[in-house]
Amino acid sequence: METKILTETISRLMTSPKGILAIDESIPTCNKRFEKIGVVSSEENRRAYRELLVTAPNIEKYISGYILFDETMRQKTLDGKSFVSVLQEKNIDIGIKVDMGTKDFPPHIGDKITDGLVGLVERLQEYKEMGATFAKWRAIYNISNETPSESCMEANAEIFAEYAYECQSAGIVPIVEPEILIDGDHTIEQCFKITTKNLDIIFKKLLEKNIFIPGIILKTSMVISGKEAEVQSKADDVAKMTIKCLTEHVPKEIGGIVFLSGGQGDDEATENLNEMHKYEPLPWPLTFSYGRAIQNKALLSWAKNPSDISASQELLLAAAKINSLARTGEYSKLK
Ligand code: G3H
Repeated sequence: METKILTETISRLMTSPKGILAIDESIPTCNKRFEKIGVVSSEENRRAYRELLVTAPNIEKYISGYILFDETMRQKTLDGKSFVSVLQEKNIDIGIKVDMGTKDFPPHIGDKITDGLVGLVERLQEYKEMGATFAKWRAIYNISNETPSESCMEANAEIFAEYAYECQSAGIVPIVEPEILIDGDHTIEQCFKITTKNLDIIFKKLLEKNIFIPGIILKTSMVISGKEAEVQSKADDVAKMTIKCLTEHVPKEIGGIVFLSGGQGDDEATENLNEMHKYEPLPWPLTFSYGRAIQNKALLSWAKNPSDISASQELLLAAAKINSLARTGEYSKLK
């Protein structure tokens, strides 16, 4: 395994004050998001929307890498340039979602396991030839009385290790993304307990498989109360408990840690990230890899007025900018 290529990719991705933009929604997820705002999820509409995300002027000031979905990886702008080449011209790294979604993991209702190891080696090879330098694999965990079960966490961790091994062998940086879902009424303390246990299980499996830890990025959910919890966690608690969890349960030599927004409000995701930087110096670089929290306003504007691409791109840029400020703890200065 060539470790240099992995560490070089990570140092570009984690360059301050940038973060990663996730535009890797699968077709079913896109269908849901588009349906909500009254847009037909046709291949052309998905292409047109992704074109505005990819071509947004100056986005490279705040974004170091885009995570794409298979369909998007193969799409082009109206004037015939591949999305990949547009991003590469801006020195933005190309990431690709390589898992194939989740399926039930009986007997516990709510436990899910992530699919996609079959054919992974060949897919990685093809994506690499197309320009991908990093990949993403997501597992999800529901908090309830019975879930996530230990066997589900173990099974997903084993799959993460297999995925990370194949990525690193191919010279592609694996983003390992365990997402504790925000749905439900769990407390922040319950989220802390599950997140720490899950991270312990994941890193044990990664180490057993001899994964090169400086050559991976952890993409995690924050430690936060459930959306329906009676007491909603505040930014200082989210930051304190997330940083405690990560400093105590993630190896110090990891290449970097990034956050998903996971259905938090846009401002909430920015404020929570900003608050984490009170705890600097941290052992690893820490930034965002948001999807919704950066895209929401741009998507809505495009849905309302698809011909005004610039208005939508300005909203995208503004969201990327405030999260870039939050990445260095400077967001509050603007308020
Ligand atoms: O897998 C999820 C995406 O990569 C991040 O999206 O910020 O909307 O949760 P999100």
